[in-house]
Amino acid sequence: MSILIKNGNIITATDNYVADILIEGETIKAIGKNLDVVADEIIDATGMLVMPGGIDPHVHLDMPFMGTYSSDNYETGTRAALYGGTTTVIDFILQTQGKSLQSALTDWKSRSDNNAVGDYSFHMAVTDFNEDTKKEIKHFIEEEGITSFKTFMAYKGALMIDDRQMIGLMQEVKKHGGLINVHATNGDMIDFLIAKHKSEGKLAPLYHYLSQPEITEAEASGRFADMASYTGCPGYIVHLTCEGALNAVRNATRRNQKVFVETCIQYLILDASLYEQNFEGAKWVMSPPLREKKDQATLWAGINQGLVQVVATDHCPFMWEQKLMGKEDFSKIPNGHPAIENRMELLFSEGVNKGKITLNKFVEVSSTNAAKIFGMFPKKGTIAVGSDADVVLWDASEEHTLSASTHHMNVDYSGYEGWQVKGKVKKVLLRGKLAIDNNECKVGKGFGKFVKRNKVSQNI
Ligand code: URP
Ligand code: ZN
Ligand code: ZN
Repeated sequence: MSILIKNGNIITATDNYVADILIEGETIKAIGKNLDVVADEIIDATGMLVMPGGIDPHVHLDMPFMGTYSSDNYETGTRAALYGGTTTVIDFILQTQGKSLQSALTDWKSRSDNNAVGDYSFHMAVTDFNEDTKKEIKHFIEEEGITSFKTFMAYKGALMIDDRQMIGLMQEVKKHGGLINVHATNGDMIDFLIAKHKSEGKLAPLYHYLSQPEITEAEASGRFADMASYTGCPGYIVHLTCEGALNAVRNATRRNQKVFVETCIQYLILDASLYEQNFEGAKWVMSPPLREKKDQATLWAGINQGLVQVVATDHCPFMWEQKLMGKEDFSKIPNGHPAIENRMELLFSEGVNKGKITLNKFVEVSSTNAAKIFGMFPKKGTIAVGSDADVVLWDASEEHTLSASTHHMNVDYSGYEGWQVKGKVKKVLLRGKLAIDNNECKVGKGFGKFVKRNKVSQNI
């Protein structure tokens, strides 16, 4: 099966030109002006932007967390991602403390195998690093194609590891060519503040925010950078939200260290004023919490300074019924919010349209850099001969309104209800197959494939 995409305005992380793309099977075979070829199907892309499929390297699908499960499973989550122009996601496997990494992988596969609609890969979250876990790292990097290991410096008593475990894990991961991603907030400080607020009877969602002040993130980000510097292990800070934390990374560059940074769409465009209401604020209870306007400015600047390489989502949706678990106590509200479908359109509308980032930067932070950092480039993350034909056709001028009544995520509210966005995903091809066509999904559960990843590169 061959497809010719004609006359589109191709945007990559570096280029912007009008040309045709010939796809044969799952890959891009040729790119050129007025390609003189015969194809089974022709798509006229005149007037459209043609960009690589988005990559969201931070999602939680069907994840057991805080006494419940995130409400999007592999089918609903990856399908919603496709509707929003994201063709590949990376989910986090969580090791159960006391059990092996391998058993966690088996558990995750039981939920992902034959269920995904879009492509996916895994990070492995190590919540219990010991002599047995240590022996498993090499196998994951070399055989399973899982080359990134997530650590939590918070969620004390559940997922958090201490610095001793962190150093040991970093040394092992570095030895075999992997990378550590980290949730960098100070779990002990947060634990103290949660207990303090609860003892004072301060139980509303606002106190979730007040239990995780900027300093808790700045401190842990600096500590993580120090440990990564000491061990020489490549490090990637997930969902960085604030000025203090980005300054810790900026400081690390002064000793010629590179620490990769991801922020998420919500931290660029939403702020903590959303917590100043009654229980409604639970929709945005996530960790770290939303911050201040000055932090949004820092993050946009960080993107343009090359300090922030990736804009992800940390998609971790919960139904309203699940959020109500914390009605009487903010510390029981399941942490997370839905965005897998909205990330690309919001980033385009708020970033490109408002002059905060260029089109090339948009592609870089929503797709290319994640592919490079996580060992999928150039198979994923660009439009080039030989790459997977993961292609998004985008109408830059179409305006529409985000709403839970029209989105495809399995969650009964939207964090962006009523938001007007300009720029819409019109068609999405995944490995050469038309997956989304004018708001209709054309591929089914099981079409999504697991992406085995290569060892990481520190030079992107
Ligand atoms: O609130 C969040 N972020 N929920 C998902 C788990 C995590 O910390 O990434
Ligand atoms: Zn986290
Ligand atoms: Zn997360």
